[in-house]
Amino acid sequence: MRFLSFLTIAVLIASVMAPAAHAAEPILIRFSHVTSENSPKGQGAVMFKRLAEERLAGKVKVEIYPNSQKFDDNQAPLGLLFGDIEMAAPSLSKFRAYSKKMQVFDLPLLFSDIDALHRFQQSRAGKALLDSMITRGIKGLTYWDNGPRVISAKRAIKQPADAKRLVFRIEASAVFQEQYARVGAVGIEMPFKRLPDAMKEGLISAQENAWSNIRSMQVHKFHNHFTELGHSYLGYMVITSAAFWNGLPADVRTQLEAILKEVTDKVNSLAAEQALSARQEVLQSGAKLVELSEADRRAWRDALTPVWKRFENEIGSDLISAARASN
Ligand code: LMR
Repeated sequence: MRFLSFLTIAVLIASVMAPAAHAAEPILIRFSHVTSENSPKGQGAVMFKRLAEERLAGKVKVEIYPNSQKFDDNQAPLGLLFGDIEMAAPSLSKFRAYSKKMQVFDLPLLFSDIDALHRFQQSRAGKALLDSMITRGIKGLTYWDNGPRVISAKRAIKQPADAKRLVFRIEASAVFQEQYARVGAVGIEMPFKRLPDAMKEGLISAQENAWSNIRSMQVHKFHNHFTELGHSYLGYMVITSAAFWNGLPADVRTQLEAILKEVTDKVNSLAAEQALSARQEVLQSGAKLVELSEADRRAWRDALTPVWKRFENEIGSDLISAARASN
């Protein structure tokens, strides 16, 4: 009898508990970005969703909003803070309103190649930048690659003087404004999704972007000369709201961090592959690559490196030195 009543109570407790366990909604992570699903970043978001939903089945649900469907990059950090999304991955060039130090990534000709950029990102100073927006409520989780920015126009840009009076579509970066002002051109900040119309309407006469974005936005339909100056790299910071991330159950947060680490390696190799395949496709379409001599490169170096000095106070000379030390 006593055993029966114990069983009854156990069953009663279980029946009360079970629906509660079932009713617990998975944690929703809305990941917003501005490129296509096939881009390195788009594929990174898809991998993150697949792994998170597999390994944290029932605990986490990820919704992806590509192609600026939900937010432009300049709105994404606010979207995180207002709780409209939980993750985004804006270009490193779009954070100046949140941390002036982030402008170090935009300084022209600072990193000798992408390996140097990676060394900096993995250094103490580079990792500290992930937390440089924490007082504004934004937490950086990891860096993702796209690739070197390539300049395009309707005419060949070989020497800095060739860029004179051209109007460049640029990302929201004060460094890029200064960079083009120094060669007598104009930089107009514009959201990524506006690029095709801006070229079609003749609002801009030049632009700079990674090969995969040049391919997806069909830049080569409007510009047929491409200059690989290697002046900067388009990369991303995967960001979240610090309040959201800190509020996650510890086991979920740890697993998501491990997943992001795995995805980062895959995104970076995909980015390297796409930089080559998109370049090949664009050049096969008839676009021309501008050949740069050593003298041309020197002329660009002379024209652009004074930009570093102009931003030294905002970025900090120690951070610029740390970045240079990775070369
Ligand atoms: C751009 O605005 O050109 C890029 O930052 C877009 C992107 O996210 O790759």
